[in-house]
Amino acid sequence: MSSAPERFGRYELIAPLGAGGMGEVFLARVLGAARVQKTVVVKRMRPERLTDEAARARFVEEARVALSLSHPHVVPVFEFGELDGSYFLVMEWVRGGELHRIAGVDRAPLGPAAVALLGSQLCDALAYVHARSDRRGAQLVHGDVTPRNVLLSLDGHALLADFGLARFAPRGRAGTRRYLAPEQARGEGADGRADLYALALVLCEAATGRPAYDRDPERAEKQARVGLVPEMEGCDAELSAVLKRALAPSRDARFAEAAAMRDAFEAVLDKGAGARSAGRAELVARVAAVLEAGPAGPASRLSTMATRAASGSGARSRMLFVIVPLLLAVGGVVAMRARAALRAESRPAAQSAKVEHVSANVNANESVNANESVNVNADVNANESVKANGRPGAAHHAIPTHGKETRPALEPGRVDLNAVPWAHVRIDGADLGETPLLGLSLEAGEHSVELTNEPLGVRRKLHLTVRPGERIERVEDLTR
Ligand SMILES: Nc1ncnc2c1ncn2[C@@H]1O[C@H](COP(=O)(O)OP(=O)(O)O)[C@@H](O)[C@H]1O
Ligand SMILES: [Mg+2]
Repeated sequence: MSSAPERFGRYELIAPLGAGGMGEVFLARVLGAARVQKTVVVKRMRPERLTDEAARARFVEEARVALSLSHPHVVPVFEFGELDGSYFLVMEWVRGGELHRIAGVDRAPLGPAAVALLGSQLCDALAYVHARSDRRGAQLVHGDVTPRNVLLSLDGHALLADFGLARFAPRGRAGTRRYLAPEQARGEGADGRADLYALALVLCEAATGRPAYDRDPERAEKQARVGLVPEMEGCDAELSAVLKRALAPSRDARFAEAAAMRDAFEAVLDKGAGARSAGRAELVARVAAVLEAGPAGPASRLSTMATRAASGSGARSRMLFVIVPLLLAVGGVVAMRARAALRAESRPAAQSAKVEHVSANVNANESVNANESVNVNADVNANESVKANGRPGAAHHAIPTHGKETRPALEPGRVDLNAVPWAHVRIDGADLGETPLLGLSLEAGEHSVELTNEPLGVRRKLHLTVRPGERIERVEDLTR
């Protein structure tokens, strides 16, 4: 980001936070009376969508829903405005960032108490959302519960975000392809149980560190369509019983409503003395570990920018510098354990990793061709489904190094790779997803690394020399 932030009405856009099909999202600050400032998040329509009437109508619908909600586990939205022909939303900045950076596919598995805690909080949010209905009595459905639409606060609370696909009694195949319930994948009508199904997929990934369905969104969608129940090897028995019930192919076999699923997570938490506080501590530590990814790590960098933005006198920035190290200290022990667990795993190979982030939101009006037959044998190759469900060793591989098979095996190096603010990473041509990447197992030798941040318009190529057994920590500042 340049040194002079873009002005957008009353707001100064400090740094991009993310971009989806519809909107671009910025960390921003707003100046109040007596120079008192607040750091917020501004989501505005993408410039190329401004003349798209359907997109404008969807953004208005998102605003209408989001502004009407007020719940401790739903991201608070303060304002809906229009500026230079663009609609925008202003909301609370949730500082811990997306769940997918903290837990989920290719991250160390979260403990059962932490998963149950997330589940309980998000079910509470969904119970609140699902209690809304329109004039015809049709139930409000979030429609896009994914690891990117769950944000975490610094104190380990989960908040549901992004009501861009929220609809009353939706029909059609809207949603992120890897997190569709069978009825959504088939393009049938969906109710709140589809959100509970998506939540269970998200939590299943957080609990195992493996993709619930195939990494390929197309195959994942086919697996969802036929109601394949993900494997939960290594997952706590009681927790997996709750998740499996929410993932029943037939809606009637699932929890009837979010409150019942929340009660089931609460029962898991009530079983172990101190489970609740242990779960919370693990989440706080995970968030802190992502912040800790370096003094220039993405979240801490943003915290610093926001602090500068928010403090004329410096008093608040001093406070943040006290609070963050405290959180980091609390997080240190669990973070080290998380890193150790991550180190124990290697990264996915190119062919299995390349599609992880293809999660286009399908137009709500798009419906599945009625003639499309669903044939279990034709749609889901049995071998693929086993691989997709990530038996240890099946979906995880070391990064391939080319032409070295005949050499005697050398001990690989371990690499922690991060970028400011963040980057999509390819190593030796293998697509590894987004930073931070911790505990990469890289063969000794030369590797080419490519970091891309499309919103920033940056693509950077690096060479990495790894010596046997070497431990490398690298943070690349893409703003320089
Ligand atoms: N309130 C917020 N606090 C922190 N980050 C946010 C917030 N809102 C959005 N983001 C970031 O921006 C991304 C995109 O926002 P989202 O509302 O999900 O838009 P989209 O409809 O484009 O997916 C999120 O996944 C998250 O990383
Ligand atoms: Mg989103």
